[in-house]
Amino acid sequence: MAAIAGVIAAAGRGERLGSELPKALVELAGRPLVSWAAAALVPVCDVLVVVVPPEVGAEPFRAALAGSGVPLRLVAGGEERALSVRAGFAAAGDAEAVVVHDAARPFATPLLARACLDALADADAAIAATPLVDTVKESSDGRYVERTLDRSRLWAVQTPQAFRADALRAALALPDAVVRAATDEAALVERCGGRVRLVPASPRNFKITVRDDLELAAALAGVAASGSRE
Ligand code: CTP
Ligand code: MG
Repeated sequence: MAAIAGVIAAAGRGERLGSELPKALVELAGRPLVSWAAAALVPVCDVLVVVVPPEVGAEPFRAALAGSGVPLRLVAGGEERALSVRAGFAAAGDAEAVVVHDAARPFATPLLARACLDALADADAAIAATPLVDTVKESSDGRYVERTLDRSRLWAVQTPQAFRADALRAALALPDAVVRAATDEAALVERCGGRVRLVPASPRNFKITVRDDLELAAALAGVAASGSRE
């Protein structure tokens, strides 16, 4: 079987969470978030690249991921998410497919990562997503609504996101200004004219962004959030 590389984007600062530690090292039920994220990718990958905040360095991440059972490469990230993924992809070596995942999503499963990889059979990228449940409105000034979007056509996108390596290579070779503005790498594949497939996922695969998310995750994991307000 051709090689599959996993790339975990863990180089963010976690400003909205407001913790002292980088978000990927914040613990959920006694394990750092990055280790939860790795558990979804390790069973489907031949190599795992973890992109870490340059100011933090590799060591705490190496410790957090010790014994994960797959060759591990740690590389420094960039200022924006897609620049971090570009750095991770550059360290991934000769893979046929790449699966990108956020360190901040502890509840993804190997089954979901595998479903994304399998969906590459007829796509350049395949991304975990859920149909929107809330009605979405557009506003330029944040005060008055201009219009209501057609919810039946809208999906909220998550990770894992799987890519044919050649499609991701072309996408990440777009000009820096385009890459840094992308909030996910699939958007760059779309821009290159690639076919991006939606893979239905669970809302449980939510991203830890603010403190409330960590408390919800702790409740789902059956423990109290560390330093919780109670
Ligand atoms: N990420 C990254 N490199 C960046 C920015 C983000 O690898 N320059 C990663 C984060 O580590 C995270 C994922 O992308 O796992 C999703 O980003 P987000 O939830 O926005 O995390 P942060 O950028 O860390 O949080 P914040 O925006 O609140 O600072
Ligand atoms: Mg961010």
